[in-house]
Amino acid sequence: MSDANDDPTSFVPHLDARQRAMLAEMGVRVWAPRAEAAVVEPAPAEVPAVSAPVAPPPAETRPSAPPAPATAPRTAPAAPAVAPVAVPTPPAATERLRPAAVAQMDWPALQAAVAGCEACGLCKTRRNTVFGVGDTQTDWMIVGEAPGENEDLQGEPFVGAAGQLLDNMLRAVGRSRTGEGVKGAYIANVLKCRPPANRNPQPQEVAQCEPYLARQVALVKPKIIVAMGRFAVQSLLRTEEPIGRLRGRVHRYEGVPVIVTYHPAYLLRTPADKAKAWEDLCLAMETAEGL
Ligand code: URA
Repeated sequence: MSDANDDPTSFVPHLDARQRAMLAEMGVRVWAPRAEAAVVEPAPAEVPAVSAPVAPPPAETRPSAPPAPATAPRTAPAAPAVAPVAVPTPPAATERLRPAAVAQMDWPALQAAVAGCEACGLCKTRRNTVFGVGDTQTDWMIVGEAPGENEDLQGEPFVGAAGQLLDNMLRAVGRSRTGEGVKGAYIANVLKCRPPANRNPQPQEVAQCEPYLARQVALVKPKIIVAMGRFAVQSLLRTEEPIGRLRGRVHRYEGVPVIVTYHPAYLLRTPADKAKAWEDLCLAMETAEGL
């Protein structure tokens, strides 16, 4: 595998017109030297990519606000690094999960277990559990953080503004969540229930929910996992390292290669980093294809 840090363009595959159009949708400006205007290169990481038409920057760390959130009430802080925590939910209030049982479940049993889960206090405030969506036979898995308001309402991951960007990112690599006409992807979150007011997931919530994601990974058997955002990365890789230090190399979760990248909600607020996210997707493609 080539080292993505040596030359950020070295792993970029040839882009056809459709992929270029999708990159434009994702907000990544395709860069080319003047003398070779027809040659397509990714935007260098230092040069901020031009943003596609995206929603105004949401204030919260995670991306669950509706697409036009300028006036939406915000309760979480703007800075992603801050993780103030409300009152922890006592585990005694809920029924404990049995990880060994979850590890044996097939898809219907797993889905039913998630739907009825009361392993943490989030069951009291959720409207719907958000299990996962996509192609269960795929070789690509996307792991996000937790449902937001739209996901809680619809019971499907990544259906808000961040979800639209995720769909564009998938299209840029020739994939979609449905897999119709292109390759598929399976999308799941670390947490299956929305934290109230989109607050950050708490450690005991992540710990309680973890067996579900582990089983989803075991059932999909992906060739690659793309971990999006701090909580996905921390949960899968058991590290406190910031994303910026984990990007650009291949990690492992239960033997499956993991590529670390920014959360689509962060990219909506920080479009300059879309070029880095594109590099990460290229590394994911290269890694999956090299297996
Ligand atoms: N952000 C996530 O991480 N997951 C979702 O499903 C929605 C927003």
